[in-house]
Amino acid sequence: MFFLIFVLQFCRLILAEFDFVQYGETEEFSNYMNNASLILKELFITREYEKELAPIFVPMPVNFSNSETKRMRVDLLLSYVRVFNLDAEKQRFNTRLEIEMSWRDPRLVWDKADFGGVDSIVTTAEKLWIPDTVVSNARVLDEVSGIAAQGAQIYSNGSIFLTTAYYSETACSINANKFPFDKQNCSLPILSLSMQPQWISLWPRVLPDLENNFEGNGEWEVIAAIPVTYSITAKQPLEVVAFMITIKREPNFYVYLAIGLTSLVSMTVLLDMLADAIPKTRVFPLLGIYVVVCVAITSVACISQPISGQESEI
Ligand SMILES: *[C@@H]1O[C@H](CO)[C@@H](O)[C@H](O)[C@H]1NC(C)=O
Ligand SMILES: *[C@@H]1O[C@H](CO)[C@@H](O)[C@H](O)[C@H]1NC(C)=O
Ligand SMILES: *[C@@H]1O[C@H](CO)[C@@H](O)[C@H](O)[C@H]1NC(C)=O
Ligand SMILES: *[C@@H]1O[C@H](CO)[C@@H](O)[C@H](O)[C@H]1NC(C)=O
Repeated sequence: MFFLIFVLQFCRLILAEFDFVQYGETEEFSNYMNNASLILKELFITREYEKELAPIFVPMPVNFSNSETKRMRVDLLLSYVRVFNLDAEKQRFNTRLEIEMSWRDPRLVWDKADFGGVDSIVTTAEKLWIPDTVVSNARVLDEVSGIAAQGAQIYSNGSIFLTTAYYSETACSINANKFPFDKQNCSLPILSLSMQPQWISLWPRVLPDLENNFEGNGEWEVIAAIPVTYSITAKQPLEVVAFMITIKREPNFYVYLAIGLTSLVSMTVLLDMLADAIPKTRVFPLLGIYVVVCVAITSVACISQPISGQESEI
């Protein structure tokens, strides 16, 4: 009987193994893939992982700070920011964000010594329980590709890493008293709607060299993104974490409009009056030369402004 079970187990192991080398893959890849597929079977079939159940300790006391069981920690790493638009009139801020979320699910821990030293596998996110963190003041929040289509990386210590790209349209109150030389702070608060504060803690971070990944649009330049944590006291203290995005307006357009167009338009009006007032003879009047020189100077000023006055600010 025991022998039969042993033989069956052995057959299962043999069947699980597939020699990818015969299709031109390396021995290393073949070993990794076979071990990874055993890990997947172990985690999701043998242990009967249920993604409908959260790895959250519900009996956690409200006074959790000295509880032996720790709160679940969810790390949020902002890894990409692109500003599409800030609609000043409607006070709406449109962005594309990429946030890498990581947390630990103790049900997905394995001993890598049992699986040929394999420390990490990538699987589809739809197999997993995922914390329900959302950008909280968003009017529109779309995942650029659905969660189900994404790959999540799982480590043998149970840590899960999942990157989600969002298109968001959030409210942002605008302070216009330095227009057009203004900077605006738009905050993207992140909440976990269904979670009590004693169950889950959110830790926002920003990728260290994110400055190189900022993308503005023609009018707005992203100059900083910082993680902030603040608490709002409603019925119970609720921790809110946010990414504060600071954007700076490119004033050139408004500067040309003010200096350039206004002077050019007034010159045109003057020229028009002049044309009515003087006879149409062969000689070009002195006043005409004055107007032409003025138009030329204004034009040169408009062109040279972006070269010399790039950093001009009031
Ligand atoms: C929370 O626990 C600490 C230490 O045990 C205690 O001093 C404090 O009074 C508790 N707070 C509440 C609200 O129970
Ligand atoms: C797992 O990896 C080890 C070492 O790389 C290898 O010896 C073993 O055959 C692999 N297991 C399977 C089922 O392929
Ligand atoms: C698990 O391992 C990964 C990769 O080594 C590491 O980034 C992560 O912080 C670890 N998680 C915990 C909870 O220690
Ligand atoms: C934006 O936030 C930063 C940091 O909190 C602050 O120093 C700055 O004054 C704010 N700027 C505006 C325009 O509110």
